[in-house]
Amino acid sequence: MPNLSQLLTSKSSDEYQRVFGLCRDISSELDSVDGVYVVGGIVRDLILDRTPGDIDLSVTGDAKAFSAELASRIGAPSPDESQFLTFKIGATGIFSDVSSIDVVTARSETYADSAALPEVEVSSINHDLKRRDFTVNAMAISLMGSDWGTLVDPKNGFGDVMRKRIKVLHDGSFVDDPTRIFRAVRYAVRLGFGIDSRTIELISKSLANVDRLSGTRVRNEFELVLMESNRVEMFRMSEEIGLLAAISPGLRIGTKALKVLSDQSEQEAISTELPDLLAITMFGLNEDEAKQVVQRFDAPAAWGESITGNAQLAKHVAVLDQANLAPSEVAEILRTIPLPSIKAYILAGPPLPRREKLVEYLEKIQFIKPEINGDDLLAVGIPQGPIIGQLIDIVRRAKLDGKVSTKQEELDLAKSRLPGFLTK
Ligand code: CTP
Repeated sequence: MPNLSQLLTSKSSDEYQRVFGLCRDISSELDSVDGVYVVGGIVRDLILDRTPGDIDLSVTGDAKAFSAELASRIGAPSPDESQFLTFKIGATGIFSDVSSIDVVTARSETYADSAALPEVEVSSINHDLKRRDFTVNAMAISLMGSDWGTLVDPKNGFGDVMRKRIKVLHDGSFVDDPTRIFRAVRYAVRLGFGIDSRTIELISKSLANVDRLSGTRVRNEFELVLMESNRVEMFRMSEEIGLLAAISPGLRIGTKALKVLSDQSEQEAISTELPDLLAITMFGLNEDEAKQVVQRFDAPAAWGESITGNAQLAKHVAVLDQANLAPSEVAEILRTIPLPSIKAYILAGPPLPRREKLVEYLEKIQFIKPEINGDDLLAVGIPQGPIIGQLIDIVRRAKLDGKVSTKQEELDLAKSRLPGFLTK
């Protein structure tokens, strides 16, 4: 096996080196630990000379004692135990490159059913690697003093990194875990790798299994794509391989949306706020398609608004082309439309007069509020009740249209309208 100790030292940042060094010390001190390895994406990234993400460690032996000791030595709080003998050490505020260190007990996994969570059992590092998604993610480097730097690579991931190839470890991989289809797309685009031809075949055959994933899991995977800088290429590939349609039949990312997303990435001017990105991505879906997507994602309220808001806006937006529309009328039309959808329309909608109205609403109109409040109206003797809200609304419209400007004028207007309400 090749020795990659150089990757652990000269090629890693100081923070990674410190963690790797502590792993070596702790493993030599704790009798209950047989092996400690850095595993998965970080190994792939170190080989590729890319900046790796968070640190994943696999321990053969007592991972609990190991992670507790590692947390204490870096000054982190006690690790949180999640799933099966997995421990998360929070490193935010301690390190700048690493936000967390995940320590897993080396294990093997079996899937009772497609898309179900796996059944797991303690195992060797080789078995631990063989349960993983792609060959390039199925490598480990030993951090034990006795074989420091030794690469463990049972599926020839190193060769596939050199060949720039994303390849599954076995034919059942996507059936076991259909989220791996999303992962294949992300890695291929992010790393500039090709997807091996047999793996592509297996993806096609397993697309139907995406249906078996819960809304939350599909949403999480979609969000990960959305937050990648190469999202446009990832969406294109997802469309090509049929992944978007497998999520929801009406889901497609329109040409206009893709253009906006790629122009913005080039200018680095993109809003990286999830609701804004989502509204652009879903631009062009009709109401039924948008509702289906919301349902498929089991979407929380903010997602739901960004996905359905475009179709909601499309129903009313043509009115904004009318000349001489008062600002209060613009506000009335747009009041219930989610802001991300308004922003998306400005970027992706047609260059008609409505666009200026949308910009004006976004930049100015939405912020115009009366100075007076309910207390001011009560103080001048207006009786409590719904009338207060109605008068404030009249004042708000008048202010939007420039008919009142000072607080006194607002009060005078409210008082002047009071008799009309009292006689109703
Ligand atoms: N993994 C897997 N199957 C999954 C998810 C994860 O086999 N569905 C394995 C892979 O070996 C992966 C490791 O768990 O490398 C850690 O998962 P994750 O942090 O999602 O992957 P990274 O490759 O570290 O991801 P990234 O580079 O995107 O941060």
